[in-house]
Amino acid sequence: MLDMTPSATFAALLKGAEPLLALAPMQDVTDLAFWRVMARYGGADAYWTEYFRVHAASRPEKWIVDSILQNPTGRPVVAQMIGNDAAALARTAGELQRLPIGAIDLNLGCPAPVVYRKCAGGGLLREPAKIDAILGALREAVAIPLTVKTRIGFDSPAAFEELLAIFSRHSIDLLTVHGRTVAQMYRPGVRYDLIGEAARRLRCPVLANGNVHGPDHALAVLAETGAAGLMIGRGAIRNPWLFEQIRQRRRGEAVRLPAGREVLAYIHELWDAQATPGCPEAAQVQRLKKFMNFIGEGVTEAGPFLFEIRRVTTRCDFFRACADHLDHDRPMTLEPAEAHAADAVNQ
Ligand SMILES: Cc1cc2nc3c(=O)[nH]c(=O)nc-3n(C[C@H](O)[C@H](O)[C@H](O)COP(=O)(O)O)c2cc1C
Repeated sequence: MLDMTPSATFAALLKGAEPLLALAPMQDVTDLAFWRVMARYGGADAYWTEYFRVHAASRPEKWIVDSILQNPTGRPVVAQMIGNDAAALARTAGELQRLPIGAIDLNLGCPAPVVYRKCAGGGLLREPAKIDAILGALREAVAIPLTVKTRIGFDSPAAFEELLAIFSRHSIDLLTVHGRTVAQMYRPGVRYDLIGEAARRLRCPVLANGNVHGPDHALAVLAETGAAGLMIGRGAIRNPWLFEQIRQRRRGEAVRLPAGREVLAYIHELWDAQATPGCPEAAQVQRLKKFMNFIGEGVTEAGPFLFEIRRVTTRCDFFRACADHLDHDRPMTLEPAEAHAADAVNQ
């Protein structure tokens, strides 16, 4: 596999016997520095970029191109685009596929009002005909694997079947389904049953996405959906060991849980990875809080921990609060209490 191009490696992954484990695209999170940290913890089989914003006059964002060129993971990277201009998306895809990437991905899920009001991202789910036209143009322009990441609908899953028919028609190579509507944002009630429906109906592999929070849950989602793999976002920020734990669980081995002190070391690594020369300390603390919002949920007594973390402004206070809760040898599942409650709601 070493001599293969990233797109051939990615295509081979899609045919592999083991479930594909992907790190989800997360704007302002999944940059080069974050990929590097993730890869040190075992890492994903494939990494999605933050999205390239595409319109008539756009050029591919340089920092995302740089993250592709310097990809430190040793695994394929998938370049994600967001936009609604079929010609501009096809032009950009043509440029991006000259980079060392595994695939080109179209974002059909972003729930940010500023995006969907322009009928891009999740907003496109209200316009199936437009998706049809865009995928037609992209399929023609893209010689490497073409993938789509979608939610199950805009404000209801009523049009999901129609969407699946469109995806089928354009012979996409992989579909990731985040089992929520756009209107649902990140609220509980992930529709794993509809992800399963997609996996049954499409010829291409389907990745299940939404709230995968632990190795047992990962295997349960694979079993329930019949998906070819999982895409994991916030669960991997919270627990960078998660991909490796899923592999351990698949092999029937005991899952290795990190001790509190290892979680503390991970936060130190994130701090160092995210440090920008000349960045004021308070801004750096602020930047780390973005990650701590997710990591904190996996800490026992998440409430008091997050309460403290959200108030600190100096590096010293930041790490004092972390050490108060994590400087111990006890194994941690890093699973949020609410995740279990949400699973119960879904059953
Ligand atoms: C901070 C953040 C940024 C995100 N940015 C993107 C993005 O750029 N493109 C995308 O397709 N999804 C984006 N998402 C959605 C995730 O990729 C994923 O679909 C969602 O978080 C559900 O998966 P999870 O429960 O495993 O996190 C983002 C999510 C978060 C939390």
